Amino acid sequence: LIETDAVNGPSVYDLAAAVDPDVALVCLSHVNYRSSSRLDMAALSAVAHDAGAIILWDLSHSAGAVPLHLDRDGVDLAAGCTYKYLNAGPGAPAYLYVARQLQRQLQQPIWGWFGQRDQFGMGQGYDPVPDVRRFLSGSPPMLGMLAVESALSVLAGAGVEGLWAKSQRLTELVIDRFDAWLAPLGCRLATPRENHGAHVAIGHPHAYQLCRWLIEQNLVVADFRPPDILRLGPAPIYTRFIDVWDTCERIRDALSSGNYLDVDASRGRVT
Ligand SMILES: Cc1ncc(COP(=O)(O)O)c(C=O)c1O
Repeated sequence: LIETDAVNGPSVYDLAAAVDPDVALVCLSHVNYRSSSRLDMAALSAVAHDAGAIILWDLSHSAGAVPLHLDRDGVDLAAGCTYKYLNAGPGAPAYLYVARQLQRQLQQPIWGWFGQRDQFGMGQGYDPVPDVRRFLSGSPPMLGMLAVESALSVLAGAGVEGLWAKSQRLTELVIDRFDAWLAPLGCRLATPRENHGAHVAIGHPHAYQLCRWLIEQNLVVADFRPPDILRLGPAPIYTRFIDVWDTCERIRDALSSGNYLDVDASRGRVT
């Protein structure tokens, strides 16, 4: 486990100092779930490779908002969920990426008929498909798959480059309003100004109540992460600039008036 800067995440120097020939696998999040820091995928993958390790990237907070070039950037493995910027909803299936040269070497620990070369042979033993399909196991969850299909068709129509261009402008607007309105009211920016993903983390001692107030009384679905982070994730496919503006304005007014402190401060399991 690498202890790194809480906002910026691990640098190539941090990783280079942590890996040695005993390390087989490096796991990193491309965009950090809390701070939104967006790591240099190519550079960090190269550091892992130089030390003789392979690298697995968690793309849960990237896919659907941030362009990814897994082959170009030397990624070995990647995984993520489909219920954030991919919009398929909780319970929709996760995904796995395995670089072509590793597909035959890596073993699937869950032996199921969908990964079997002759799926309907029903014979003895396990003879996996010699490509990425070996990582399938049993019947897919169809309702979740249908949600992924519909959600991805909308995203593909928009194009990830366009979504990313909009996302950068949305987060720029959050940071601009943070500087103008929220920093003077005791908020701290917990996201790097450069190299971030599609969300912005704002630190405030009463972030939990602020978050609940936004959800319960303003129809703004923000998120809280302990101890004091309010996450604003303006998904570029459906969030308008005016929505970001209005949200920041409401946060400003709430902090000035203190009215959000009426919200129940007892913590639920999920925010
Ligand atoms: C970094 C990261 N990885 C993965 C996931 C998805 O986890 P799961 O598929 O268990 O819901 C999340 C969800 O919040 C996440 O933040």
